[in-house]
Amino acid sequence: MAPFALIIFGITGNLAQIKLLPALYDLAEKNLLPKDMTIIGIGRRTLSENEFKSYIHNSIHTANHHHKHDVKGEVAGNLLSHFHYLSGHFEDEGDTNSNTYRRLKELLSSHGKNCQNHLYYLATYPDLYENIFHSLEHFGLSKNDKGWVRLMIEKPLGHDLKSAQELDSLLHKFFSEDQIFRLDHYLGKETLQNILTFRFGNGIFEPLINFKHLDHIQVTAAEDIGVGKRGGYYDKVGALKDVGQNHELQLVAAATMDAPGEFSNPAVTSERIKILKNLVPMPDKLVYGQYKGYTSEENIDPNSKIETFFALKTEINNERFAGVPIYIRAGKKMPKYVTEINLIFKNPINRLFTHLEMGDNPNVLTYRVFPDEGIGLQIVTKNPAHDWLLEESRMQFCYRTTGNELPDPYEKLLYDAIQGDQTFFNDAQEIEAEWAFTDKLLENKPSPIIYEPGTWGPQKSDELIEQDGRHWLIPSEA
Ligand code: BG6
Repeated sequence: MAPFALIIFGITGNLAQIKLLPALYDLAEKNLLPKDMTIIGIGRRTLSENEFKSYIHNSIHTANHHHKHDVKGEVAGNLLSHFHYLSGHFEDEGDTNSNTYRRLKELLSSHGKNCQNHLYYLATYPDLYENIFHSLEHFGLSKNDKGWVRLMIEKPLGHDLKSAQELDSLLHKFFSEDQIFRLDHYLGKETLQNILTFRFGNGIFEPLINFKHLDHIQVTAAEDIGVGKRGGYYDKVGALKDVGQNHELQLVAAATMDAPGEFSNPAVTSERIKILKNLVPMPDKLVYGQYKGYTSEENIDPNSKIETFFALKTEINNERFAGVPIYIRAGKKMPKYVTEINLIFKNPINRLFTHLEMGDNPNVLTYRVFPDEGIGLQIVTKNPAHDWLLEESRMQFCYRTTGNELPDPYEKLLYDAIQGDQTFFNDAQEIEAEWAFTDKLLENKPSPIIYEPGTWGPQKSDELIEQDGRHWLIPSEA
């Protein structure tokens, strides 16, 4: 692998500390980083070389929730030797000797050939982007005829369609689309990628995934935790923009997109975009909830009307899924932490045991994103007894039983960006399609209904689906 320089803006921030640094360690442990790479962390804090190294060391060693195994001292020590710290302001515009970008340029040049490829990771607020891009351009760091230059950014990618388009115009002033890696960590989840393998790498399921056989689809992203310390951010966005507009729409796209002509970035991405552009917004089928006690949490406006739960109905405007409703919900302080997609099949008229209890139960295909990651198919089987009795059973694939440890999405996506593979990154059109759908839903924002923590949200969410003669599946029983 060719050497490169990874330049992290906001190295001392939360994202770098809990996601990027552990992901780098995991890549190093798997020997997936070039031996002569350089990592430059930029932050506002004044830190001595020792203080910086001990910060990196601690971030790697305390990320126990991230690594499910022990950190190897030798790997961590070796990784540490690649780090350099630049303390400075991102909005440093003066052409002085102490200018952050001038010092960055000097540092990169001092490493010669090992720093000809540049990957910038902006783990910082989006309002700093413009300043950073201008300064990189001014010092000749946004283009490079001796190697590649890539940029990684992530949510929030705008707060509506207009602001997303403005962000795209800004990005395109400095970078071409093939240099921009917009990260949605759900695209880096092994379980989302496995949906594509399951659907397009096997022959028997794909012919059933269409309006002829499907009754409806459900997507649930439930968390048993509240907003915690993220109130300042969350109270400006709410559940729909936090996880609906991005992560859950990506789950819908993975479950419903047509087979790409080949496994390449343009082919896979364009199939995702087709789904996202064809989602039908139904503003009158949107329910908002807010868990009781939310407004007394840290950094939350006491009169906040922000939703911590939403449920909505949509459809895909294409021939394959004509008339198949999709119900999507997400919420904080739900009964459990679970993310899954359920495809509920129609009952064919010739089923034999419909006179028996459970004889009418539908088959359900479940893509379990978290926990117990895997894929399950709910079927009806015969109870082994003299009487003819039925029971519900499950055929399933579960990673846990394979003994494989699932890589963290940040680890996977960082590796892809280093390889220049954009298949599991969003492109501009994709983000804009997600916002176009969300904006239409929000033309008439509903008021949130208060729900008890530990429940599946307001009663109105049940009514949304029950008025169509269906019900939400309880995830563990799916
Ligand atoms: C983040 C949201 O993007 O995704 C969080 O900002 C949410 O609010 C998180 O908790 C969920 O991700 P995961 O991987 O835990 O399902």
